[in-house]
Formats: sequence, C-alpha cells, structure tokens
Amino acid sequence: MKGIILAGGAGSRLFPLTLVASKQLQPVYDKPMVYYPLTTLIENGIREICLISTPQDIPRFQQLLGDGHRWGLRIDYREQPKPEGIAQAFLVAESFIGSDPVTLILGDNIFYGGDVFHKAFKDFASGAVIFGYRVHDPSRYGVVEFDGQGKAVSIEEKPTAPKSCYAVPGLYLFDNEVVSIAKALKPSPRGELEITDVNMEYLRRGTLRVFPLSRGFAWLDAGTSTSLHEASAYVQTVEKRSGMKIGCPEEAAFRQGFLTLVGLQTEVARLPRCEYRDYLEEVLAEAQRAG
Ligand code: TTP
Repeated sequence: MKGIILAGGAGSRLFPLTLVASKQLQPVYDKPMVYYPLTTLIENGIREICLISTPQDIPRFQQLLGDGHRWGLRIDYREQPKPEGIAQAFLVAESFIGSDPVTLILGDNIFYGGDVFHKAFKDFASGAVIFGYRVHDPSRYGVVEFDGQGKAVSIEEKPTAPKSCYAVPGLYLFDNEVVSIAKALKPSPRGELEITDVNMEYLRRGTLRVFPLSRGFAWLDAGTSTSLHEASAYVQTVEKRSGMKIGCPEEAAFRQGFLTLVGLQTEVARLPRCEYRDYLEEVLAEAQRAG
C-alpha cells in the first residue's frame, strides 16, 4: 500500500503563523507537525509516500524530508495549486498511486495509542476503511452513524444536526477504485472535492468498513491556535511521563526495519547536540544492548 500526506491548504485559521510557513511545518512541541502523520504511516509499514502541498511550500518540505532515502523511505512530491478539496489528492497523485491501494493522512492530524490502525492496515484487502472517533463537537467534521450491529449507515459532512457523536478522523485506507471514484466527483457547494463523498460512494457500494477508535486513543488536529497549543501540551505531557517520543520518524523507521542500526547511527551522527539527538542515542543504546 502507498501513502499520501495531504499537507497543502490555506491554514487561514492559524494566521499570522502561516503567512510564511505552512501549517504542517509549525512546531508541535518538539518537532514539525508533519513528522506526526509521517510517523503514523511508517509505523503501519508504509514506505512509499507522496507529500502533496502548495507550490510555495513544497521546497520547504523537501528541505526537511528530502527524498526519504535516509530513513529507508521513498518520498515523492506533488503540487496542489489550490485547496480544492481533500479528495483532489487522488487526482493530483494519480501517477504516484498507479495500480496500488493507497492510504491518505491529513498533514495536521496527530494520532497516538492503541493498535486499531495496525490491525486495519494488516487486514486491508479491498474497499475502504475509515475510523470513527467520539467527539463532543461532531458538526465540525464528517460524521458517521452506526446501526445496532456497529455497521455504518450514513456519513454526513459537517452536519448541523449530527446523527451520532462519531467524527471521521483524517486517516483513510482505499483500494485502487478510489482514483476513478475521485474522478467522478462533482465539487460540493463549498467548491471542494469532498472526502466524505468518496466514503459515501464506498458505503453505497457496500464496501466501506468503519473501525471505532477506543477511548484510550488520542486524535488531535492542530488546525487552530488553541488546538495547536493543546497538541503541543499533550505531546509534552506524554513524552515527559513515558520517556518515549511521539512522532519520531527515525525511530519508527528503525523499528519497522526500514533503517538498519548502522543507518540509524549515521542519522544520529548528522544531528547537532539537542534533546532529539539524546533521545535517538538512547534508542540506539537500547537496541545495541538488546543485541
Ligand atoms: P483544513 O484544516 O480543513 O483546511 P486548511 O488547512 O486550509 O485550514 P484553514 O481552514 O484554517 O484555512 O484541511 C485539513 C488538512 O487537509 C490540512 O492538513 C490541509 C489539507 N488540505 C489540503 O492539503 N488541500 C485541500 O484542498 C484541503 C481542503 C485540505
């Protein structure tokens, strides 16, 4: 399966922060925001990745992540000149997707905890898989409604009267049909190709599965100044308490076997003295002790 990180958009709710650097390059505690969705993909075994952003911001992402080979990845870049909807990603990245299934993650979504994703990726065969996460303000999101058996019966984008408390977070798994589905979409009244319309088409075909994310799972989106600050505070709290970092692509690549011990050593040696390097040195030392 290939992976797309959607990291364009206007970031208008974060102005003036986003006047010169895009939202997904802003710090979430101790790392750039894009490290978190990138790490989520790596942790789930994805190593062929396409990052979509605006023509102005792509050079910055390239400076940060390069072509991915240092971390055992392949990272391609594609431009989305205007934010014309999340589902446009499948058109922008069509040549990257080729004939493979694809997962899409939003560049400002941070996930932490549980093994639901792991199971979903491992078991994915066809159709679409999305997730449901209980929130107190569902009308800001795509909302999924379940029947008594836990089967999805409706999905609505930003409903004024939500039929459930379950929002659909920004991580989706699709078979290759998603490209033709995206091609057939018409822009919504707000002028966007909606990811909810893609999910509704899979629902109509009877090939959509929705996995609920459990209580212990954290889903944060960092699109406003308040949620950006809260995401930083959350990451800081968990990292301080556990001594483990969230959203560390080098560590995830090493644990996935994308990066060898020697490869990780080389990466660590490239870093200046900083907390991030100290942490990776601990990861290395632990791996060396384990043999
Ligand atoms: P949003 O937060 O809905 O939009 P935005 O980032 O443009 O922010 P604002 O509303 O403050 O102007 O987008 C969610 C994520 O998807 C975010 O990472 C940006 C990305 N995105 C794109 O890259 N292209 C698009 O066309 C859209 C709609 C979103």
